Amino acid sequence: MSVLSCVNVTKIFHDEDFEALRNISMNIEEGESVGIVGESGCGKSTLGSIIGGLEEPTEGTVLYHGNDVSRLKGRDFRHFRRSVQYIFQDPKGAMNPFFTLRHVLVEPLRINFPEAGKAELVRRAEEMAGKVGLPAGILDAHPYEVSGGEAQRIAIARALLLEPEVIIADECVSALDLSIQAEVVNLLRHVRKETHASFLFISHDLDLVRYFCDRVYVMLHGRIVECLDCRHMEEDAASEYTRMLLEDAYGKC
Ligand SMILES: Nc1ncnc2c1ncn2[C@@H]1O[C@H](COP(=O)(O)OP(=O)(O)OP(=O)(O)O)[C@@H](O)[C@H]1O
Ligand SMILES: [Mg+2]
Repeated sequence: MSVLSCVNVTKIFHDEDFEALRNISMNIEEGESVGIVGESGCGKSTLGSIIGGLEEPTEGTVLYHGNDVSRLKGRDFRHFRRSVQYIFQDPKGAMNPFFTLRHVLVEPLRINFPEAGKAELVRRAEEMAGKVGLPAGILDAHPYEVSGGEAQRIAIARALLLEPEVIIADECVSALDLSIQAEVVNLLRHVRKETHASFLFISHDLDLVRYFCDRVYVMLHGRIVECLDCRHMEEDAASEYTRMLLEDAYGKC
């Protein structure tokens, strides 16, 4: 059974009377890395936030282990919230600037593991900082005092500390220099291997998606054009649009 899936999801932004998603069904299996690719404005982030429970669909259902997310209550809902973690493009924007990075890591732990003592939570945070390649000393700094790449490592550490089943990474390296992009994506690949977490990897960069994912959904204007195995996209792509994306990324194929 899929860890996370959605069935016939439509999203209309009523203020604008704009249909951002049209009848989307997709799934993420245990340990699988699934990509969403498509041009800016096609609805990638909207789909990511609906399947991750941050936004509600106008129509359709989101399922977590087969259970309708809109019906989850109390403990079950909190478990879902903790199990699906996000990493965004702008990690600093999602961190309280008055907190030290240590506090940034410990705060969600404190909320989710209230039975653990403070010293234990700090120990876990420092250990995780090491695992994502940061020196423990950096945790005394504030978000605005570190580089974009370091902040993204903190965001990854913060997500991992909650032991998620699914990590939704929305353009999580787009704002970084190319060499730092590669470092962060390789860190995520390492995380994949070590934790067996599933990923929903959202990016407009097809090459990056293929480097990271098993399967990719190609989106255009709020719809899924097709879903392809990343290893043989060239052979399998049936739509004109996917062919164009492939051509943009790799030249004529
Ligand atoms: N809260 C909102 N209210 C109204 N329209 C919205 C809202 N959020 C997104 N949209 C619109 O929905 C469409 C899809 O937006 P979305 O952010 O999902 O696209 P995206 O594929 O993630 O784009 P990008 O690659 O630029 O991040 C866009 O036209 C956007 O303007
Ligand atoms: Mg987006």
